[in-house]
Amino acid sequence: MTDNKPNANQSTATAAEGCVIVIFGATGDLTARKLLPAIYNLTRDGLLPKNTVVVGFARRPKTDEQFRQEALDNVNKFSRSKPADPKVWNDLASRLYYHQSAFENPDGYSALAQKLAGFDRQFNTGGRRLFYLSTSPAEFVQIVEQLGNAGLGNIDPFSSTAWRRIIVEKPFGRDLQTAKDLNYQINRVFDESQVFRIDHYLGKQTVQNLLVFRFANGIFEPIWNRRYVSHVKVTVNEAIGVEGRGGYFDTAGTLRDMVQNHLMQLLTLVTMEPPVSLNADAIRDEKVRVLKAIQLYNRDEVARMTVRGQYVDGVINGVPVPGYHGERGVAPGSATETYAALKLNINNWRWQGVPFYLRSGKYMKKQGSEICIHFHSAPGVLFNAPGSKLARNVLNLRIQPRESISILMNAREPGTVTKLSPVHMDFEYQTAFGSYSPEAYERLLLDAILADSTLFIRRDEVESAWAIIDRIEEAWATGTSPLVYYAPGTWGPPEADQLLAHDGFSWDTMRAEDGEVQI
Ligand code: BG6
Repeated sequence: MTDNKPNANQSTATAAEGCVIVIFGATGDLTARKLLPAIYNLTRDGLLPKNTVVVGFARRPKTDEQFRQEALDNVNKFSRSKPADPKVWNDLASRLYYHQSAFENPDGYSALAQKLAGFDRQFNTGGRRLFYLSTSPAEFVQIVEQLGNAGLGNIDPFSSTAWRRIIVEKPFGRDLQTAKDLNYQINRVFDESQVFRIDHYLGKQTVQNLLVFRFANGIFEPIWNRRYVSHVKVTVNEAIGVEGRGGYFDTAGTLRDMVQNHLMQLLTLVTMEPPVSLNADAIRDEKVRVLKAIQLYNRDEVARMTVRGQYVDGVINGVPVPGYHGERGVAPGSATETYAALKLNINNWRWQGVPFYLRSGKYMKKQGSEICIHFHSAPGVLFNAPGSKLARNVLNLRIQPRESISILMNAREPGTVTKLSPVHMDFEYQTAFGSYSPEAYERLLLDAILADSTLFIRRDEVESAWAIIDRIEEAWATGTSPLVYYAPGTWGPPEADQLLAHDGFSWDTMRAEDGEVQI
């Protein structure tokens, strides 16, 4: 059995009330890999009340028993703690149900409403429902409409215990207009306070630590601005390709799939002003404010500030890897990017003039998500002996893998002559706190049950992020930035290096770890 430590934050367990979680798209990949294992782990850690009921809603015919057996197989395969503890599992499985219906069939929703009312009587769930949209985005609007028509959207006026919430998976639209349309449709049935737009990066422990790191330590905030910061890099690199998701990915591309959400979220957490409180809206107000300060590019700027790449056939560790065009579901001749690099400007008092470089790619040499904050160098008047290199101080916030925070400093090498070397001062999560780390989906599901929307994306936030991306997509569509190519297992196209080299910088950190480039 792996990772058996209980959750340190047991206090939330008592606050959660039993509810019914209805998962739309219950036979899909996300449910199998993430949602059911998360529900199992929350149950195992005692964070979900004993009367929590889970209903899988999907098209395929299946009995409750079949659904339970498949769920157990998935927990045994994908859970961070496995195999499932039989006692915990049997208890959970007795509250796990399957509901078969086409998404467009109104009868399926009235039958669901009846079933839910029955669970209220049987399990005392008090009209509390959490709907989870884990289907293809093409189904979102019709499911929401049908929920509304079946009376499952608004809060039940005859119950003092009831609540209804909806978690919406990404992608949330494919541009500003479709995101606005989706928001409009959802908000016709669910009030904004009931809507939880998910970005699983916000559920990662290290991402949450960004706010603690910035605002619980007095030493960083005073230097967190244009006077001290030279430039900032945000990287989310994956060592894998599109992994059988070519059909979806080909309609999205890295800019929509990764940058609009995950990278923008990391960027806002690093650059937002201190919120007036930790209240969900106070935090999200600041995130929106900084998103609105990001410069919207015209075509010329897009051509200069962005790079779009795609992987070609190659070899990784001696194994041939098909290029993007060889992936299942990818249209012949597709120009969808699997790599994007961009430079952004934040035009506000704190950040004006500091370049922010973002990059994300599939089939990179190494997996790694991190934020590097480079400070201006010390004046080079004292330590400029031959052979010495005065490195900039760099604060490296590593999200994954090996979550850590490190500061790069100059130190004097031992010896009779003064020679400087860059050294790292490290804080590793695992060393400090042990290996226990709940999965992002555990935290986010629990937060939605507890009505805490801090780690979910607000309507104006998702729209502001799309406004930035739209400008780039629109320019790309007119051919401003030709697609460039890279081999799998590399650091991406050389054009992305030139983007930084032009400003006298480089994508240095992860390369240094590989021994490729010294900082
Ligand atoms: C998802 C993207 O949102 O994030 C995927 O759709 C990507 O393409 C994934 O692989 C990366 O998430 P993580 O948690 O593995 O870094």
